[in-house]
Amino acid sequence: MQPMHPMLNIALRAARKGGEFIIRQTNQLQGLEITEKGRNDYVSQVDLMTERAIIDVIHNSYPDHSILAEESGAQGEHDYQWIIDPLDGTTNFLHGFPVFAVSIAVANKGRVEHAVVYDPMRQEIFTASNGEGAHLDGRRIRVSHRSTLRGCLIGTGFPFRQDSPSLDDYLAMLAAVIKTTAGVRRPGAAALDLCYVAAGRLDGFWELGLNTWDVAAGSLIIREAGGRISDFRGTEDYLQSGNVVAGNPKIYAALSKLLAPHAKALV
Ligand code: IPD
Ligand code: CA
Ligand code: CA
Repeated sequence: MQPMHPMLNIALRAARKGGEFIIRQTNQLQGLEITEKGRNDYVSQVDLMTERAIIDVIHNSYPDHSILAEESGAQGEHDYQWIIDPLDGTTNFLHGFPVFAVSIAVANKGRVEHAVVYDPMRQEIFTASNGEGAHLDGRRIRVSHRSTLRGCLIGTGFPFRQDSPSLDDYLAMLAAVIKTTAGVRRPGAAALDLCYVAAGRLDGFWELGLNTWDVAAGSLIIREAGGRISDFRGTEDYLQSGNVVAGNPKIYAALSKLLAPHAKALV
């Protein structure tokens, strides 16, 4: 294995620190202060404190780099931007449902170059650097080999803001995928879902209306594992639109085709 890039090393250190903090809070869920940012969109002190701890680690090594973080927004002007979701899967975390992760990506002039997603419950660390492949706990990972939707396990995320304008389109997509595949899973942490595609645990994934911090790290990890990811027009604008379809190359193509009739409003 190649020596780790210094920025990936810092991203890893920050993700571990964030994850350890989250785990320490799992037995104190009762006393947590929780705010509803929007309908069904929660933030707790844990999200805020984890984010602060992650940014401290990054700024210790790279004080001038800019940050785009879910809870504190954008700060600084620099070609290098660190894109952070301190706790992906907050709703799961608040319920003690053990599926959540820390997601950190480093982009250079808008292009993601390094990525870490850390699942602190399973202590699994997914990493990737541009051109260096994707790894789980230091071992190379690849997308699955399935070539037809029949038999595939597909991940997704439900539009959880219940006033979502695309709910009807989404439900039509869900029906089509349920009828065509072996099963659909909605674990509740998009960054991890993308890593599961990279590791071949899921054959494909789609979701509408994600945010940049949900997708930035996982998208590089999928690409470096030999997978494909795009929006519903087949372009790389998903970091802006948040509409994502992904999979191993054959399942990505088949899933895009299956979803296309219901994605007209999104293209
Ligand atoms: C959420 C999770 C979830 C996805 C939502 C995201 P958060 O992130 O990734 O799986 O369906 O769209 O907002 O709010 O827990 O960081
Ligand atoms: Ca998230
Ligand atoms: Ca979050």
